[in-house]
Amino acid sequence: MARILILGGAGFIGYHLGQRVSQEPGHSVTLVDDLSRGRMDPDLAALLSRRAIHLVRADLTDPGAFADLPRQWDQVYMLAAVVGVRNAVGDPARVIRVNTLVTLNLLEWLPPATGVVFFASTSETYAGGMSLGQLPVPTPETVPLSVAEIRNPRFAYAASKILGEAATIHYGAAKGLRFVIGRLHNVYGPRMGTDHVIPELCLRALDREDPFRVYGPEQRRAFCHVTDAVEAILRLTGTEGAWGEIVNIGNDAEETPVGDLLGLILRAADFSPRILSLPAPEGSVARRCPDLSKLRRLTGFTPKISLDAGVSETFEWYRAWRNREGVGRTP
Ligand SMILES: NC(=O)c1ccc[n+]([C@@H]2O[C@H](COP(=O)([O-])OP(=O)(O)OC[C@H]3O[C@@H](n4cnc5c(N)ncnc54)[C@H](O)[C@@H]3O)[C@@H](O)[C@H]2O)c1
Repeated sequence: MARILILGGAGFIGYHLGQRVSQEPGHSVTLVDDLSRGRMDPDLAALLSRRAIHLVRADLTDPGAFADLPRQWDQVYMLAAVVGVRNAVGDPARVIRVNTLVTLNLLEWLPPATGVVFFASTSETYAGGMSLGQLPVPTPETVPLSVAEIRNPRFAYAASKILGEAATIHYGAAKGLRFVIGRLHNVYGPRMGTDHVIPELCLRALDREDPFRVYGPEQRRAFCHVTDAVEAILRLTGTEGAWGEIVNIGNDAEETPVGDLLGLILRAADFSPRILSLPAPEGSVARRCPDLSKLRRLTGFTPKISLDAGVSETFEWYRAWRNREGVGRTP
């Protein structure tokens, strides 16, 4: 029997993690979320109908939200954050405030004898060095972390996650916590909102945009299906050798130009528009692919889901969602 706390549990990765762990016999799972991004949609309602899982609606920027929770857990996953370039550009102060407070409140509250704590970090923590062409690709965990221009709102998210990593490491040492920092790289799949490239392209393909805009088609990404990401997260928290470590999480098998990704989505949509290639968004790195040697060495993890299969599944989820909810709503 494991007691599992998933903070940000109604969001994209939190939902899929909750779905996976609530299937394990004897596990009891608590999701906490303020539903600012995560939604009480049919998927989440179906998950919550299972016996061993429930949702606490709370704003984790309030220390009182933690005080109301039991303190003894076997695994704690810190996934709550304000993510996405649109949020960072639109309200960088909110990104800094929420991402910093939820992490510090958690670290202040955790008793030393708690279970393993997972902090969700990101490849954006080293994007500054990547933009300057200073870092190797595939990129290992040892590279320096930096932001290219501290005044640019776009980098508020990266700055908050650099602080989150440092806070986890130093509170962890001070309190004797067992923790793992996972640097997630381009995770995708059903129910991921609209602030990422794959759902955005899916929704515009469903809208039959023609000519079809694609920004930075030459930029390369290594996309990781959420089922693989959840497997890597669980292996890391379950591996003693990973405690205290920073570990990349992603899929290095298929580094794909955004233009080729679009090809997969248009094929799934059975749609052949004219393509309008536009410059990549400012501050977006030309190439990103994690070095997964450490994850493999520690856990034996191998990503299993091909981009082709994962993109088809994701497209079908967005098609069903659009049919259910109608145009103009966001998942
Ligand atoms: N999806 C990716 O590719 C990716 C890549 C790198 C890092 N990450 C990290 O993984 C984590 C999960 O990402 P995701 O894609 O599932 O994002 P998400 O936005 O879908 O999930 C985050 C959840 O946190 C909740 N939340 C926000 N503020 C809160 C608050 N004050 N109190 C309680 N809940 C709050 C939101 O409602 C949302 O449901 C984040 O920390 C993110 O930075 C994700």
